[in-house]
Amino acid sequence: MAKIKVAVLGATGAVGQRFVQLLDNHPWFEVTALTGSDRTVGQVYGEACRWVLDKPMPDYARSMKVVPTEPGLAAAIVFSALPSDQAKAIEPAFAQAGHGVCSNASAYRMDDDVPLLIPEVNPDHTALIKVQQQKRGWSGFIATNPNCTSTGFTIAFRPLLDRFGIKKAFVVSLQALSGAGYPGVPSVDVVDNVIPYIGGEEPKVETEPCKMLGKLNATHVIDAPITISAHTNRVAVIDGHTVCVSLEFDQPIGPQAAAQALLDYEWAAIVRSLPSAPEHVIEVRSEADRPQPRRDRDTGHGMTTVVGRLREDPLFHVKFVVLSHNTIRGAAGGSLLNAELLVAQGIVK
Ligand SMILES: NC(=O)c1ccc[n+]([C@@H]2O[C@H](COP(=O)([O-])OP(=O)(O)OC[C@H]3O[C@@H](n4cnc5c(N)ncnc54)[C@H](OP(=O)(O)O)[C@@H]3O)[C@@H](O)[C@H]2O)c1
Repeated sequence: MAKIKVAVLGATGAVGQRFVQLLDNHPWFEVTALTGSDRTVGQVYGEACRWVLDKPMPDYARSMKVVPTEPGLAAAIVFSALPSDQAKAIEPAFAQAGHGVCSNASAYRMDDDVPLLIPEVNPDHTALIKVQQQKRGWSGFIATNPNCTSTGFTIAFRPLLDRFGIKKAFVVSLQALSGAGYPGVPSVDVVDNVIPYIGGEEPKVETEPCKMLGKLNATHVIDAPITISAHTNRVAVIDGHTVCVSLEFDQPIGPQAAAQALLDYEWAAIVRSLPSAPEHVIEVRSEADRPQPRRDRDTGHGMTTVVGRLREDPLFHVKFVVLSHNTIRGAAGGSLLNAELLVAQGIVK
């Protein structure tokens, strides 16, 4: 099939660079435009962008000119890696002009008619796109992926919720620096330190999973009735968000049963065939001291969610640790998988 034309909005930032990397030689998508702010427009990407990833900048991107972030690009899908305040005005303009916007920004995640997607968790929620187009009169659409801290534990919650029911979750995050973009947190603040506050993060982590794990009715999602309490912390790790989770189920469940549910789960068949889908959605580690960000974040090319330390919880029922690569599964890789799902479902042609 002919490749589908795509663009990256905010291509020079931390998430934009991941898109540029993950779209290199993509079997379904061809990058036709990279956009930036006034700071970089008109420059070639190789000069405009301070490349911060370990592998070299892909050749295709190096000589592309950074173009303004305006609708009308030759792209059926635009991947948005824009700051949320900019996304608020820019993303609807693209959707109105007929582009399918796959967004990382938080601006529209919780709108009733906007799907908040993890393909393995709620592939059916893409049906909201039709509702959105009718309601807003758009020929394009906005589909979003969640906040990078919610991503890993929401994937782990899907099998547990389906099998046992979840009442309460207490989650404590240890979040990587790349989650704050580039240059992100000043080094003098974070070296030899833990910062126990990330602006706006806890409300997102307490609400987004309930929408994703909720049930779709005709026009909106009925949130899953899980009470989540979150503490979010910034730590001096480059990539990979670790989350310590304690869960209360609808019935008393032990760690063995929880591990088995994670291992046995039949993930939606449509997702398994997508080019960016990992071989294993979840990997369960049995060692006492895993997962660790440096050692485990690249599991499944950064798309696998790694769970470990499943044990009894004296307050609730079971506790465990989840690790997810924040700029891959939690951002660009997750958004790319959403776009692949939309193609597989025939929503983008
Ligand atoms: N980092 C993560 O792990 C992560 C995970 C999930 C979601 N997100 C979300 O993804 C988005 C991007 O995050 P990031 O960490 O990549 O941020 P970032 O490193 O600060 O990059 C921001 C990008 O947006 C562009 N930009 C800024 N203002 C603009 C404007 N007025 N018009 C057009 N482009 C503009 C910048 O272009 P110039 O360089 O040209 O100024 C840059 O390419 C945010 O909404 C963030 O919340 C991030």
